[in-house]
Amino acid sequence: MKIESLKSVPAGYTDTPLEPMPRLAAALGLDAAHCGLYIKRDDMTGLALGGNKARKLNYIIQYALENGYTALMTFGGVQTNHGRLTAAAAVRYGLKPILVLKGQKPDYLSGNLLLDRLMGTDLYFVDTSAADRLPAAEQAAAKQQYLDKCAAQIIADYEARGDKVLSVPVGGQTVIGSAGYVQAVPEIMAQMKAQGIRAKYLVVGYGSTGTFAGLWAGAKYYHAPFEVIGIPIEPDFRPIEETAAFINELSSYFELGFTCGKEELHLEFGFGAAGSSPSGSASFAGSDSAGCGSCGGSAPSGSCGYGGIGYNEPDAVTESYIELLARTEAIFVDPCYTGKVLHGYIDLLKRGIIRAEDGAIFMHTGGAPGLWTKEHLDHMQDGYWSDEGKDRAHVFRL
Ligand SMILES: Cc1ncc(COP(=O)(O)O)c(C=O)c1O
Repeated sequence: MKIESLKSVPAGYTDTPLEPMPRLAAALGLDAAHCGLYIKRDDMTGLALGGNKARKLNYIIQYALENGYTALMTFGGVQTNHGRLTAAAAVRYGLKPILVLKGQKPDYLSGNLLLDRLMGTDLYFVDTSAADRLPAAEQAAAKQQYLDKCAAQIIADYEARGDKVLSVPVGGQTVIGSAGYVQAVPEIMAQMKAQGIRAKYLVVGYGSTGTFAGLWAGAKYYHAPFEVIGIPIEPDFRPIEETAAFINELSSYFELGFTCGKEELHLEFGFGAAGSSPSGSASFAGSDSAGCGSCGGSAPSGSCGYGGIGYNEPDAVTESYIELLARTEAIFVDPCYTGKVLHGYIDLLKRGIIRAEDGAIFMHTGGAPGLWTKEHLDHMQDGYWSDEGKDRAHVFRL
């Protein structure tokens, strides 16, 4: 099937703004007037506070409606942005929203979970912590097996009540979903042309990888002038071989006419992440943390890899990038994904791996509700809300 003939619904907006970031440039010592730093605002896709998954859901919902599904189920971490957007798309198109969340039910309702509940989402928490007692080599399989068993049970329960459930994998990682990011490429190219923007790089998060893969495939298919660079958002990231295989699947399904070798994919991890650098990395630069332009090796774990210390684990380095963009451009990135990608984007500029004069687009994929999750709020209290902290919350008392 030709990708151009694939239909979609307008669950979320496309044509999100592509804008310069002159004040961030000035803060980095660059020429603000000709800064070459741009942001693609996919945090503004509109659907339930926006984010990248809206583009995927435009295609996934079309598929669900065409095939008579009545409920949409997906998976993720307890504070999944993808889950919030999937629930939102389901609600907007009259499907039942179901989220299967890996982890314990938190005592305190916050962040995305609050939004999920407000939308009337059915939430199922799957706690696999008991498998942590198994030998390390057996844990992942045991957890996955239990998750699959729970998901099958949930689907069976809905089907017994007359529903037809579409089960969407973590991150909306499907060929149909990634079409949304293949098709984002001509949109970006048209915006660059209209605004006279040159950009040699597009820097994006690498999580479940559908966004990166779609953009990479789109850049190849549409002969984009930019290279797509992925920043893994956690130290334990998806192997590059699997992403290359997924891109090849995209290419053959949509007749894009190319094959992709893993050595063509460009991921950047940051210093301190040498151990996790897959062999396909074209540009991993070593492990001299003193050379890290932005955090000087000060990350809490002793590593200042861009992926921080773990999935959705608060860390001071990522928070410093959240603050930097907020104080220069009044744009909020998030602690789980985009704050880490911004860390990578700025550090690559500082290290000269990408050059501002060549033009570099930072892909903002959303996630700001993550700022209001209990764990991140707790972590930020000292820095922004203590008496001696760097906050400016002064108090007058009569
Ligand atoms: C805000 C945000 N950015 C980036 C990503 C990563 O996108 P992908 O899973 O397609 O790699 C996610 C995934 O959930 C996300 O929520």
